Amino acid sequence: MNIFQTAEQQANILPEKYRRMTVKELEDRAKEIKEKLGNKLFIPGHHYQKDEVIQFADATGDSLKLAQLSKENTEAEYIVFCGVHFMAETADILTAPEQKVLLPDMRAGCSMADMANFHQTERAWIKLLELFGESMIPLTYVNSTAAIKAFVGTYGGATVTSSNAEKMVTWAMTQKPRILFLPDQHLGRNTAYKLGIGLDEMAVWNPVTDQLEYEGLIENVKVILWKGHCSVHENFTVENVIEVRKQYPEMKIIVHPECRREVVALSDMAGSTNYIIEAIENSDPGSLWAIGTEMNLVKRIINQHPDKHIISLNPHMCPCLTMNRIDLPHLVWCLETLEHGRSHNRIQVEEQTAYFAKMALDRMLERP
Ligand code: 13P
Ligand code: SF4
Repeated sequence: MNIFQTAEQQANILPEKYRRMTVKELEDRAKEIKEKLGNKLFIPGHHYQKDEVIQFADATGDSLKLAQLSKENTEAEYIVFCGVHFMAETADILTAPEQKVLLPDMRAGCSMADMANFHQTERAWIKLLELFGESMIPLTYVNSTAAIKAFVGTYGGATVTSSNAEKMVTWAMTQKPRILFLPDQHLGRNTAYKLGIGLDEMAVWNPVTDQLEYEGLIENVKVILWKGHCSVHENFTVENVIEVRKQYPEMKIIVHPECRREVVALSDMAGSTNYIIEAIENSDPGSLWAIGTEMNLVKRIINQHPDKHIISLNPHMCPCLTMNRIDLPHLVWCLETLEHGRSHNRIQVEEQTAYFAKMALDRMLERP
């Protein structure tokens, strides 16, 4: 490691001071700085963030809502994004150049977004062009790097989120006969299936072997699913569903579409984090729910609805580890640097990448 890398690494290590502060001291500092900066500061918080962080969010939401809110907020000078790296990148792309987007802990990535890199995608596209010619349009889940969004934007495609995936796949099908869906095979499969595309019409692109996994006639392929997944949502299994059905026959099972096809098929309902929150909010007191999504959100829903019996679909589930990297000490550290006129952990997408990635995002945001 050279001297610059060492310095960079040091800059990302939480100073000892923040480890020693009590929760009360940290909370007081966060409140104080928020008050001081007023409208100059905007803190969006994803539903999967810890409560200790969410309490300071100016807005909470799923990835679609947070992208929309970042775009609409033209006033804030600093956007301290409490979520993961790809969400902060999206906010940077959608906001004005003078607005600074910061991520309290640079290690807050997303394992799914890391499953598709630009070089793999370029290689895949070249090979798929040989098989399918110009018949494909790429779509990417927002859980992807800015470089992948730029790739998709360049080829006429768009981004999707878990709350608008059906609408975006329907749109893509009016553009070209085939879709390449990155990087989450499960969201792609669940969405396409719901829209009437057969499992036998879906192939899987393996970015590790650079091969198409498909057993039928190649002309029949309508959707090519990138072989990526969420390491959190893949932990909900058919066995979990069977167990809940056995223990609580009356219980409704609701899951995020990042879960495997078999799990979604056996559940009662599937939808984005917002969809899950609203379904439970709108349900009758005394109703029974098993939720298949990230644990910080499930715990919050349980606490907010003491009149309902709510459990996690998988009793051994843990939170998303990368989302959890944003904690109160890192948030206060980030806020204090702003207070002192410095910006810490700025997320800045390179200009050309941002230009093409914005095309993909705009094609999605134009279709509310
Ligand atoms: P939402 O699109 O539902 O916010 O989900 C984002 C995410 O990271 C789920 O794992
Ligand atoms: Fe990424 Fe999964 Fe965590 Fe969402 S829950 S941020 S998809 S690793």
